[in-house]
Amino acid sequence: MPEIAYINNNFIPLEKAFIPINDRGYLFADGIYEVIVTRNGKPFLIKEHLERLQRSADGIILEMPASLPELSEIIETGIRKAGFTETMVYVQITRGIEPRRHNYSAKLRANLTMTFRPHPEYDPQLAQGVSIITVPEIRWSRCDIKSISLLPNIMMKQRAVESGCQEALFVTEEGLIHEGTAGNIFFIKNKTLYTPQADQYILNGITRSYILQQAAIHGIKQIERECTLQETLKADEVFITSSTVDLLPVVKIDDSTIANGHPGPFSKVIKNFFP
Ligand code: PDD
Repeated sequence: MPEIAYINNNFIPLEKAFIPINDRGYLFADGIYEVIVTRNGKPFLIKEHLERLQRSADGIILEMPASLPELSEIIETGIRKAGFTETMVYVQITRGIEPRRHNYSAKLRANLTMTFRPHPEYDPQLAQGVSIITVPEIRWSRCDIKSISLLPNIMMKQRAVESGCQEALFVTEEGLIHEGTAGNIFFIKNKTLYTPQADQYILNGITRSYILQQAAIHGIKQIERECTLQETLKADEVFITSSTVDLLPVVKIDDSTIANGHPGPFSKVIKNFFP
């Protein structure tokens, strides 16, 4: 099956999809995005993803080029056309195309593109738990916007990978944990689920919200508040969540082993919340 792209209102083979050099996404990373995966062939939590896309658009004062029902229909059509068992849909909206200048024309029309690629099967090795590193929080104070401007994230993810680790955790000078480069962080202590509150310093993950909602249904006590690195290192379990990994148990942070170095029971229970 070919990987496909949605561009200029058409579905075409991915390798034939090109963006004009004056796209402000290319020039300035002036845009927003979503990553949506399918489960049992259906886009998982699509409504929540599209509502967040709208919030990101509002956050950067960008007029959406299509309504949420229209976007939903394009996504469903792309998934059908691609025909993969499970699909990873990448949706990007940039401010539009015009010669490079920091400010932009009021009349500029946003540019909508998508890609449809196979969603790789979950690597069972990851279920054994991963090691992560901590890195200084060097990002801006609107991390609640899902912006394509991700230079700090990619630099720190690269640092993690080059250190043989799976993720990097942003930690403030005050020792507060925020999130990973591409996922939210949780820990369990004394059967209670902790995660940093969804303020402007983290992306409020769709997976994060889903887990909190499911945990409440299953009677797991949960606390959203400022969380320190020190207490995370002493947690019973730690995990990272995102649409692409669901739940990734963390068994080592820098040189500290978490609990006994193996994923704990809550990580397994919560992983089973996913269809
Ligand atoms: N990233 N925090 C950051 C910084 C992220 O980039 C992501 C997801 C999340 C988790 O969000 P969600 O549960 O809605 O996927 C949190 C996507 C997967 C990416 O950039 O590829």
